[in-house]
Amino acid sequence: MSEPLLTFQFDEKAFLEYYWQRRPLLMKAALPSWQSPLTPEELAGLALEDDADSRMIGKSKSGWALKRGPLNTTDFQRSDDWTLLVNGVDQWVPEVAALKECLRFLPQWRFDDVMVSYAVSNGGVGPHFDRYDVFLVQGTGRRKWRLGDWCDETTPRINHEDLNLLQNFDTSEEYVLEAGDVLYVPPGLAHWGIAETPCMTYSLGFRAPAIATLLARWTDKALERIDPDLLLEDRASVVETPAPGEITHAHWNNAREAIENTLSALDDGSWLGEIVTEHGECAPPPRKDAKALCLHTGARVAWHAIEGQCCVYANGEMLSVPSSAQPILERICSGDRITPAEIQSVDSEFLSFLAMSGVLVEAS
Ligand code: SIN
Ligand code: CO
Repeated sequence: MSEPLLTFQFDEKAFLEYYWQRRPLLMKAALPSWQSPLTPEELAGLALEDDADSRMIGKSKSGWALKRGPLNTTDFQRSDDWTLLVNGVDQWVPEVAALKECLRFLPQWRFDDVMVSYAVSNGGVGPHFDRYDVFLVQGTGRRKWRLGDWCDETTPRINHEDLNLLQNFDTSEEYVLEAGDVLYVPPGLAHWGIAETPCMTYSLGFRAPAIATLLARWTDKALERIDPDLLLEDRASVVETPAPGEITHAHWNNAREAIENTLSALDDGSWLGEIVTEHGECAPPPRKDAKALCLHTGARVAWHAIEGQCCVYANGEMLSVPSSAQPILERICSGDRITPAEIQSVDSEFLSFLAMSGVLVEAS
């Protein structure tokens, strides 16, 4: 029998309606039977790898210090209150990637990575805010989390060339997390974790594309498809006589409506799917005679249904396949094993598209 899915013990619907992106939430014993899949030594081992995105942050009488990875064993011989952080651990350790199962109630394309930290007693990364949502899962030990004010780019920071720490921190709520407890922190809320004992924290982080990026891609896509001879029509905007030289509100509204209508008419939705799947990890194409395949951890795949088709996005590339592909797509995105024949049965180009986009690996 397969393992039951890992889920947070809480009301997902109520969370989405009341907390998501709005308020912090402490979930005591949200993962009651889960156990930290990594030891501090294993995390430290990962931080020595050239390909791992690691750093150490320490606090001593002389202030805050950052050391970027890859780290050496000698980097751990230090006397300040330090924390080791490794980003993207889900790409290296399947048991850490399994934590993503808890997030199935959220759009998969919003997920970024699992960062794992180990702190000695009193260690912490200092008071700060993140621009993204994060679920802080306590792996081992005890950590006190202080929550502060809402912040933005204008909130004063300390003068430090490497670290973006807040100058002031007023504690509004304080919680002590133990193994299996989870704290959700929405974007922009100041937070400050201090290890009460040596402890490990797993941060399930989200990302959101910048509106500026979406807008630029949407307009670029529309410009690729637009008829360059299409001119602005005045329609009902010129019924009133303007003052000499005046652009009236009606003129301005008319031009704005023309742009909005054109953008909508030329929208095939591809700007969103392309942007949210860009910069995924690419795997080399799997062997032609591979018996079973599955999604490469770190690859980004998303899809949307439109007019009897499914537009599939894989690491920023797009292919349109028949809508009958949907069950297969859901299985691929869930990380299930799938045979090349099953993928091929949907559309003759589908398998080579996914393989060449670097999103499939041979399943073990
Ligand atoms: C940590 O794990 O120490 C830091 C996590 C965070 O503040 O986002
Ligand atoms: Co943070």
